[in-house]
Amino acid sequence: MKKVRLIVTSSFGLEAVVKRELEDLGFHEFSGADGRVEFDATTDDIPKLNLWLRSADRVLIKVAEFGATDFGQLFDQTAVIPWEEWLIPDAKITVVGKCVKSQLASVRSCQSIVKKAIIKRLQEKFNTETLPETGPEFTTQVAMLKDTALLTLDTSGSGLHKRGYRGGVGEAPIRENLAAALVLLSFWNKDRLLVDPMCGSGTILIEAAMIARNMAPGLKREFAAEYWPVIDKKAWDDARSAARKAVISEGALKIFGYDIDPERVKDSQFNARRAGVEKDIVFETKDIKDLWINDQYGIVICNPPYGMKLGSLKELTPIYVSIHNMFKKKTGWSLFILTADKRFPDFFKRAKPDKMRKLFNGMIEVNYYQYYGERPPKMELS
Ligand SMILES: C[S@@+](CC[C@H](N)C(=O)[O-])C[C@H]1O[C@@H](n2cnc3c(N)ncnc32)[C@H](O)[C@@H]1O
Repeated sequence: MKKVRLIVTSSFGLEAVVKRELEDLGFHEFSGADGRVEFDATTDDIPKLNLWLRSADRVLIKVAEFGATDFGQLFDQTAVIPWEEWLIPDAKITVVGKCVKSQLASVRSCQSIVKKAIIKRLQEKFNTETLPETGPEFTTQVAMLKDTALLTLDTSGSGLHKRGYRGGVGEAPIRENLAAALVLLSFWNKDRLLVDPMCGSGTILIEAAMIARNMAPGLKREFAAEYWPVIDKKAWDDARSAARKAVISEGALKIFGYDIDPERVKDSQFNARRAGVEKDIVFETKDIKDLWINDQYGIVICNPPYGMKLGSLKELTPIYVSIHNMFKKKTGWSLFILTADKRFPDFFKRAKPDKMRKLFNGMIEVNYYQYYGERPPKMELS
């Protein structure tokens, strides 16, 4: 087991959610900037983090950080890093990169220099001319920011949003980690009624059910670092078996999803089945204008069509009017609406949003409008 400095990445706006998740997992004392949370850990923590983080993108090992204004500096400083402590002689070495506000502005050149320096170091240390690159993948990222190079190793492999349950999706599904963040930001809990009236492929509700059931989101997938000898296989086995034992199967959930498109409802059912939460969510084909909810307390989390990719103002207006009509007098309902359409608050006139959070759905800037309802009386938690 080795001490490491880890960087958990996320999309902009979700850093506080990631920090809260990390605290729940027992980590403290964070630093970092936009889209990055840094902290001390050990290599044995890497399995747990990959398995459990819901709102994050990736778990990276911080390998080095140094100033570099020319390729000679980048090469020399990369070649002195003890890569042989991480990589193995048949490692498949992939280098990805990004350059922001730096004299070294060519991403491809930075990637190529870093790869050459890693190979030179490994050839010397493993005493071989040939590195076949036929083994497990080690992806290094070189991130140049204001003439500082940050080198990291990606322990996750595919992004953490890929839980492994999603098959069918509609035109504009949101990523699983964003959906989980929306639920975590809503403070919904398993005793309360939850509705997504435009559920698409069901992502928000599936993530909610997984949170309620305490299911580790990464349990059904693999991670790049599972094949790295530097992390004890036992650490992966222990983390997986602890995650399996942590699942809470008792108790019924009250989660309902609707969509106007029957194909999306089928997708949702398929995805929920793959995620192992099909018994927890009722999905039904329904136009929001025909939806009526009798309950006085509950939570809505949804992302309506944006008006950019799907639908136009003409199509969106009736949806907004339906939301307004249904919930204008239901002061016991909290609404959490993710949309790129800044006109949404003009239509939902119950009150001004209590909170508005700027987030990103992929490359699209969106707002998360949060309208808090009254809490239900203690006996009537719905
Ligand atoms: C942006 S997508 C939701 C994506 C979803 N969160 C997911 O992760 O897949 C919006 C959804 O609203 C649905 N929709 C559009 N108009 C509707 C209406 N009048 N009533 C119910 N659903 C509607 C669309 O079929 C689409 O699936």
